[in-house]
Amino acid sequence: MILNNYYNLNSSNTNERIKTLINNLDNGLNLSKDQFLDLLNNFNYELLPYIQDLAFKKRKAVYHDSVYIRGLIEISNYCKNNCYYCGIRKNNDDLERYRYNKNEIYQIVDYAYHNGYKTIVLQGGEDDYYSDDLLIEILTYLRSNYPDLALTLSLGERSYESYYKLYQAGANRYLLRHESASAEHYSKLHPQEMKLTTRINCLNDLKTIGYQTGAGLMVGSPYQTNNDLVDDLLFLQSFQPEMIGIGPYLNHPKTPFKSFNNGDINHVLVIYALARLICPEALIPSTTATSSLASDGRYRALQSGCNVIMINLSLLDKRKNYSLYANKTYVGDESQEYLSLIKADIEKAHLKINFAVGNHITREVDNNE
Ligand code: 5AD
Repeated sequence: MILNNYYNLNSSNTNERIKTLINNLDNGLNLSKDQFLDLLNNFNYELLPYIQDLAFKKRKAVYHDSVYIRGLIEISNYCKNNCYYCGIRKNNDDLERYRYNKNEIYQIVDYAYHNGYKTIVLQGGEDDYYSDDLLIEILTYLRSNYPDLALTLSLGERSYESYYKLYQAGANRYLLRHESASAEHYSKLHPQEMKLTTRINCLNDLKTIGYQTGAGLMVGSPYQTNNDLVDDLLFLQSFQPEMIGIGPYLNHPKTPFKSFNNGDINHVLVIYALARLICPEALIPSTTATSSLASDGRYRALQSGCNVIMINLSLLDKRKNYSLYANKTYVGDESQEYLSLIKADIEKAHLKINFAVGNHITREVDNNE
């Protein structure tokens, strides 16, 4: 249970106090642990339009009207990990596994490039098939054939040496959600061999090497409390990731968490807006999970400060097997064929679709391009 006061009515005094905290964030001030906790404990629905409006303006001040489009290729649903929430966890044997070989990846990237995509995200489970050597070969090929393409990887935890070599081979960005910045909560979401310290070390390595680095979390994941979310917000405040992936937790029936409820769309919107105010320059996608949870989720996320949409370019026959959670919008919504729907949502939010490379504002000239 999070944002436990969201559906109650606050006294006007309380609302004024929370507005002051929100204004402080908007003015570039850091909040303390106690202040973030007060904000989350006492945030209610009357404050949502207020924070959305500030987040919308903040995004506009940095990135103007642009909503950047990325092409997402889910290259493998093999995973050696057993995260309790995730549908492609190793122990889910009720799943047809697939992976793309390099030529399949080249084919999709070529299609994407000729359809105007300037960022490609290669995302997958932690699959040892993708050795450093194979990834270096793939990145080198893509970097030399499509020099103006931003290459984003989202392949989980690897060594410093591996991240370094992949960066040298041409990768620009890396997405690795921290999932929870509270060690105690992290340990409730993952088996004991997975440690928050390892995850944070990976994120530090990625930043040190020079990647535009993405962190992020699920809102409403099992056992999450406001104290845990405060740790996430403090982490975002200090780490200042270039990208932030946020979405609701969504139930998957073939996981140990099968009896937990989905996250709440309104809570997700509050966290999007807070992320925008805490990290004004971050690239924040309206994620597939958010669209899967609510039919107007994408539009409402754009109203809350999001400025990126990732479009699924995986082959249709494979897409259904990349099931991180149930009812993923894999055949429609986020895919290339539905670009016009996405464009309509963007325009409805008074924003503009933008196919440019869309680097983080401080990295307009990226070393690897
Ligand atoms: N619900 C929502 N998001 C999920 N992810 C994995 N499983 C789920 C789920 N059941 C998210 C994780 C991961 C990203 C690729 O997908 O945060 O980092």
